[in-house]
Amino acid sequence: MTPPTPGAPASPPASGTVPSPYEPLALYGPDFAADPHGHYRRLRAQGPLGRVRIAPGVDALLVTDYQAAVDLLRDTDTFSKDPRAWQAGIPEDSPVLPVLGYRPTALFSDGAVHTRYREAVNDTLALLEPHLLRAYAAQAAQQFIATFSATGTGDLIAQYARLLPLRVFSACFGVAPRDSERLLHGVAGMMDSAANAAAAYADLVAVVAGLVAERRVRPGRDLTTYLLAHPAGLDDDEAVRQITLIISAGHDPTTNLIGNALLRMLSDTGYGGSLHGGAMTAREAIDEVLWRDPPLANMGAHYPRHDTEFHGVPLRAGQLVLVSFAAANTQSLPAVSDPAVRSGDGAHLAWSAGPHRCPAKQPALLMAMTAIEQITSQLCDLELAVDPSELIWRPGPFHRAPAHLPVRFTPLDTHP
Ligand code: HEM
Repeated sequence: MTPPTPGAPASPPASGTVPSPYEPLALYGPDFAADPHGHYRRLRAQGPLGRVRIAPGVDALLVTDYQAAVDLLRDTDTFSKDPRAWQAGIPEDSPVLPVLGYRPTALFSDGAVHTRYREAVNDTLALLEPHLLRAYAAQAAQQFIATFSATGTGDLIAQYARLLPLRVFSACFGVAPRDSERLLHGVAGMMDSAANAAAAYADLVAVVAGLVAERRVRPGRDLTTYLLAHPAGLDDDEAVRQITLIISAGHDPTTNLIGNALLRMLSDTGYGGSLHGGAMTAREAIDEVLWRDPPLANMGAHYPRHDTEFHGVPLRAGQLVLVSFAAANTQSLPAVSDPAVRSGDGAHLAWSAGPHRCPAKQPALLMAMTAIEQITSQLCDLELAVDPSELIWRPGPFHRAPAHLPVRFTPLDTHP
């Protein structure tokens, strides 16, 4: 029997037959969340691209090969970021549309349109002065730590990592404190790709639209006001969409970078499984996470502009091709476990590559470093309260995100 072409669309199996070895592998739900790297290993057996299902009825090809990932991310002649043709065949209520569905933003545009949005985003992010960003992040960290430091226990996701980036974004964009909670639910709901994802995204947009309307009439000293005055001349909807993109693309991955790096520091037996002795630095933990468990695990959605062949795999015009940054990074795991390799951040794809690479690497790193340094210096005998194998991971195909990180520590005496 001729084996199926790797990554090629397989015909549905006749009932009663053994399923094709290349049936789409589900990239969502508890099984995937519990063992993503096992899934990537199985997908690699198909070649550089594997067939995946990212939600009920929504299939994609996933690039798991490092070189193929780099080639795709840089090849703007063959691949577009505009999902509209693909989206026409997807149910309107699909839980992946809040992440993948078209909006007039940098993430979903090509060429000159992308350049216009990207310049507005880049110039706005450039106003995030490192010392101010560090100060905002440190102040937020101290406030959140104070809410549980006297108790001796805490959840470093719910009470810390999940709150911090959004608090910083709210301060920078001038979001009213009363709206911060809504932003938080909006971003988390959209990334989990659960049944309420569309409503969560709609509420996120509503909060940002209110902010933009207010700053049009009452400018402030914040990034929203700056973006509205940018020479790109964004209209209200375009401004709302770029801010929503910055907040959603920024908050959830930064939360997960903080959470995953703290988990790495608290559970790495090679480092004593403890922060005592301080062998693993925040930067080392962050680098390991960016290599092994990048917060945006599978993303980089692209659509072939025409029927083509890519790394030996036939592709149809408009079909969804995703990049597994996690699989590409870990293609040769032994090299990654070498400290000399893992301490470098040059070659991994956690920030993507090509024209759509993350524009916020430095601010994201600064926030994560500050968050980790603040908590590990204040609660210096922090340890995990459960075995790492008992941790629950958030569902969804796109992110790598612990749902909780229960810890214990010697309570701080908060009385003067
Ligand atoms: C301050 C925090 C962050 C902000 C404001 C931010 C913002 C953005 C924006 C606006 C884009 C779209 C760029 C474009 O299409 O031209 C983007 C893309 C991306 N960001 Fe970030 N980001 C942040 C943190 C992170 C973190 C922590 C990670 C993971 C380590 C990350 C990884 C990525 C990746 C992989 C992409 C490409 C997504 C794709 O190809 O679909 N970002 N980011």
